[in-house]
Amino acid sequence: MALILGIESSCDETAAAVVRDGEQQLSSVVASQLAHSQYGGVVPEIAAREHLRAIAPVVRKALSDAKVTPEHLSAIAVTQGPGLAGALLVGISYAKALAFALDKPLIAVNHLEGHIHAVLLEQRQAGNHALDFPVLSLVVSGGHTHLYLCEQHGESWTYELIGRTRDDAAGEAFDKVAKLLGLGYPGGPVIDKLSKFGDPHGVRFAPVQIKHEARKVSKRYAQAGKPVPHSHDFSYSGMKTAVLRHVETHNMRDAIEQRRAALAQLTKPTIDQVRNLTDPHTIDLVASFQRAMVNDLVAKTMAAVEESGAATLLVTGGVAANSELRATFENAAGETGVRVYFPSLRLSTDNAAMIAAAAFPKFVAGAFAPEDLSAEAGLVLR
Ligand code: KG4
Ligand code: ZN
Repeated sequence: MALILGIESSCDETAAAVVRDGEQQLSSVVASQLAHSQYGGVVPEIAAREHLRAIAPVVRKALSDAKVTPEHLSAIAVTQGPGLAGALLVGISYAKALAFALDKPLIAVNHLEGHIHAVLLEQRQAGNHALDFPVLSLVVSGGHTHLYLCEQHGESWTYELIGRTRDDAAGEAFDKVAKLLGLGYPGGPVIDKLSKFGDPHGVRFAPVQIKHEARKVSKRYAQAGKPVPHSHDFSYSGMKTAVLRHVETHNMRDAIEQRRAALAQLTKPTIDQVRNLTDPHTIDLVASFQRAMVNDLVAKTMAAVEESGAATLLVTGGVAANSELRATFENAAGETGVRVYFPSLRLSTDNAAMIAAAAFPKFVAGAFAPEDLSAEAGLVLR
């Protein structure tokens, strides 16, 4: 039996969790940093300082919730990257010190692999151990909108990137649009909830246009002698610009600044409070923006499903918490026959259970981190 303590500190969540054998969550503790909301985005120095304050109590709580004493751990897993270097270093230093003091192996995990394993963990926990291959994963978060073809060799997984955002990540677009409209941070949850009250056809968004370069996207296609497919890339900076243009042409600035000031007075505004401060036209704009984002994400991903012949689709990362995205993917999957899986809402956004789960195959393979492990802000997933 392997009991792995996972530690995650790549962005603005300090998290720790204990997972047994990559399939049973014994605990999962997430401390979200509220300090960033007034800035409309994550401030790296604040994030690192907040991680320093939170890390010891969060790890202690994860162990006590799991009823596990440190001596009984099999290994300690930590996010190596990608993420904010200063934030990552807090988790890494803490994990290293703990591993050294307890004489336990240390395992380095890629945050994006963690998001994919959030789905695998919960599927295994529910008794679903055998996914049909090919498996395609959409990791859609504040920092990433990446499509990976995933392969399993024994316990180990490998990933081939077949599409990515060329500019803003989808979550970043949600966050920037919310900031622009004076709706606070993070933008995804508030836009998701507010959209339910708006008309998604109220404002027209032009479809996202991407210039395709003639390049090989996937060695798998080439190996299989298949024609080089369309690029599966995404692009979301234009969406944000479209909202900005709409704000300017409709003289919405004053109302936005009033809302921003009013919301700044509230520590954790409820959706009713936000809604009361938002006029119907802005709510329509928000709903239309969300619909345009969801339609583009689903259309591009389903095109990749078709071209790759994927039998299973995993949709994961913070934006996978979006209710409209889930419903639209489920409809599209129902039409094509691909099986689609999401993490629970709790495991969609950043957490450490996913890090402990992704570490399990590495534990089995004895793939431990070197003593001089350091943060890699731009770590690539392969
Ligand atoms: O995975 P995550 O917690 O952190 C990163 O790795 O980036 O994702 C955070 C992102 C933020 O951009 C946030 O606005 C977005 O996920 N998000 C959502 C929702 N909940 C969180 N986006 C759309 N709808 C949601 N319900
Ligand atoms: Zn994440």
